[in-house]
Amino acid sequence: MRKKIVAGNWKMNKSQYEANKLANELAVVQLAVNVEVIVIPTSIFISEVKSNLQNSSIKLGVQNTAGTDNGAYTGEISAAQIKSAGIEYALVGHSERREYFNESNKDLVQKINQLLAHSITPIYCCGEVLAEREKGNHFNLVKTQIEEGLFHLSETELLNCVIAYEPVWAIGTGVTASSDQAQEMHGFIRSILVEKYGQDIANKISILYGGSCKPSNAQELFANSDVDGGLIGGASLVAESFAAIVNSF
Ligand code: 13P
Repeated sequence: MRKKIVAGNWKMNKSQYEANKLANELAVVQLAVNVEVIVIPTSIFISEVKSNLQNSSIKLGVQNTAGTDNGAYTGEISAAQIKSAGIEYALVGHSERREYFNESNKDLVQKINQLLAHSITPIYCCGEVLAEREKGNHFNLVKTQIEEGLFHLSETELLNCVIAYEPVWAIGTGVTASSDQAQEMHGFIRSILVEKYGQDIANKISILYGGSCKPSNAQELFANSDVDGGLIGGASLVAESFAAIVNSF
């Protein structure tokens, strides 16, 4: 009933040549038809990547967006511009942006509002650092991220969002959350959505897992009832491993 989604976040990787090469490889690889596949390249290459993927069903996303309308904001990219480039998804609040660019839940609300106003689907990222998990504070922290980032939205607006749970200690470390840890947090996130928006709405929201997801563990992670796909970093940089993850449901 929920969309299965696998999104590849290329982060700040790949030259122009390499980005186009990967897009061309992805354009011809066999991908499960019941999965929404998204690639999220560096913005400077996105139009070329998009045109290389034009004969495939793969969608495009950006890694970040401005929280304001068009105007004098040097270096920023607005939701209106993203929409005009034919892009359908945008990451919001990736842990690297929260950590290195000090993005707060309050900043992220502005970004989500801009995206929704331009009919772009936000992929709202949440997740705890290791110290929070060790203190037993991970549920509280993720709850706050969800409440402060999303709970201002109407039911219809929330239905246009995707959530990605990415435990920071699992990102790029090779340490994946266990299947049980992932399901536990995804089930918890859905229960918070149930409390606020009711079961029907909560059941329709896709919640993706991210953090060292790879071909060898994707199947086990995706088998969980509340894990609706993945947000993939390192393993999305190689067509073969990304495709293997997409084909893991
Ligand atoms: P890795 O898959 O490299 O751990 O990265 C996950 C991530 O941050 C995706 O957004």
